[in-house]
Amino acid sequence: MLYQIYPRSFLDSDGDGVGDLEGVRARLDHLRWLGVDGVWLSPIYRSPMADFGYDVSDHCAIDPVFGDMEDFDRLLGEAHAGGLRVLLDWVPNHTSDRHPWFVESRSSREAAKRDWYFWRDGRDGKPPNNWRAAFGGRAWTWDDATDQWYLHLFLPEQPDLNWAHPGVVESMHGVLRFWLDRGVDGFRADVVHLIGKDPTLPDQPGALAEIDLVGVQDHPSAHPLLRGIRSVLDSYAGDRVMVGEVNLGTPAQLVPYYGAGDELHMVFNFSLLWASWDASQWAQRIAESEAALASSHDAWPVWVLSNHDTPRHRTRYGGDAGRARVAATVLLTLRGTPFLYAGEELGLLDADVPEAARVDPGRRDGCRAPIPWDDTAGHGWRGEPWLPWPPEVDERDAASLRADEGSILHLYRRLLAARRRSAALHAGTWKLLDAPAGVLAYEREAGSDKRQVWANFGEEPVLCRADGQWVVDVGSREWDGRLGGTDAVVLRPAG
Ligand code: GLC
Repeated sequence: MLYQIYPRSFLDSDGDGVGDLEGVRARLDHLRWLGVDGVWLSPIYRSPMADFGYDVSDHCAIDPVFGDMEDFDRLLGEAHAGGLRVLLDWVPNHTSDRHPWFVESRSSREAAKRDWYFWRDGRDGKPPNNWRAAFGGRAWTWDDATDQWYLHLFLPEQPDLNWAHPGVVESMHGVLRFWLDRGVDGFRADVVHLIGKDPTLPDQPGALAEIDLVGVQDHPSAHPLLRGIRSVLDSYAGDRVMVGEVNLGTPAQLVPYYGAGDELHMVFNFSLLWASWDASQWAQRIAESEAALASSHDAWPVWVLSNHDTPRHRTRYGGDAGRARVAATVLLTLRGTPFLYAGEELGLLDADVPEAARVDPGRRDGCRAPIPWDDTAGHGWRGEPWLPWPPEVDERDAASLRADEGSILHLYRRLLAARRRSAALHAGTWKLLDAPAGVLAYEREAGSDKRQVWANFGEEPVLCRADGQWVVDVGSREWDGRLGGTDAVVLRPAG
């Protein structure tokens, strides 16, 4: 299981109210105790923070708000010593407009790096095409300095890199090498499908003209680029991995991004993150994903319920704490690699952020609330955090939940331990079982090892199976086939 850390919100060690690398290092014991295999750190590079680090102005420097390179090396060393892998966030589609590459590119039409970004003349005073940007507005900004438009699929402060230029490819490979040489275990590649663009930059047709390109752009030119990226990782000793964010609508669209085992090692599948609290919808989406990914033996699934871009899943499910427990049980017992967003193990809700305190251009502040570590007034933080605390902060801090064996934190820990000791759970096949309405049930199997998972999404108790051949694997109660409302169990064969 990989654990996503949004460093600004994890823990502040120096009193400026923003989390930092020393804060992460101080809590590695929490991750080891929980049973995490590795962490993905959202961007820690030098950045003007227009998109809180997803606008990188120097790929090979740590932003001072997070610390310095010594802090990074210390964190990496201690994580490795404790058996934790470390993945960085690599942002290949765009840079900050303050990045020296863009500064040079925008300086003149003849600049050596002009074509590292997309510069175009307009159409009768209007932008070169009809593309929309994520966070709103059009995807082109006019630049008076050279009287042309430049492309940005996100903020104007995030100009898109032109991966058709060999200089971009070489330099971005160099960034990967810089960090691989320092010893990182891999990367989460931000909106990596977007690096493949139709060189003619055609208008979006029909209704697609109303939406931004992030969820629809799926151009074949991404694939040779991904193979080049993969060959950089493969040239290193040890296991180095890249998991890509590809925001396309169906699991079948993700499969090509694994290539023939020569593109991304893993691709996030957001189909459960986009699902509502409905057992039959989950069953259908998991089955659909299994069927799509099984078409390629290289396509290892990756499951996500929450991240720094979406309201936390407990919030999405209406705030019910029981639902968060059921969701945890399913997330950690599916086939593939689960990603856990920091704070899910505490069952956190999104913070209610007043309009005046909002800072994110994408209005994602709520899920980025600070993590409470203990029940003191500052919850372990040195300074007043940059965003408000989440609800229930006085009960849901890590130390209090750790002291309570019945807490969701202990449930996550037991599930991770169960996963580690069962071949069926970490590597076995997945098969949907017949179940009463409102219940999601499936079996995992590897050789003679088997597990069943029964998850009741409904509020009423149900009778699932009373054949007496199974005992509860996670939890201590007897299994008689009765499942309470909003409850889930992992079973193993009796005897
Ligand atoms: C990804 C990130 C998101 C960021 C965007 C632009 O979707 O997860 O946080 O704003 O890319 O880099």
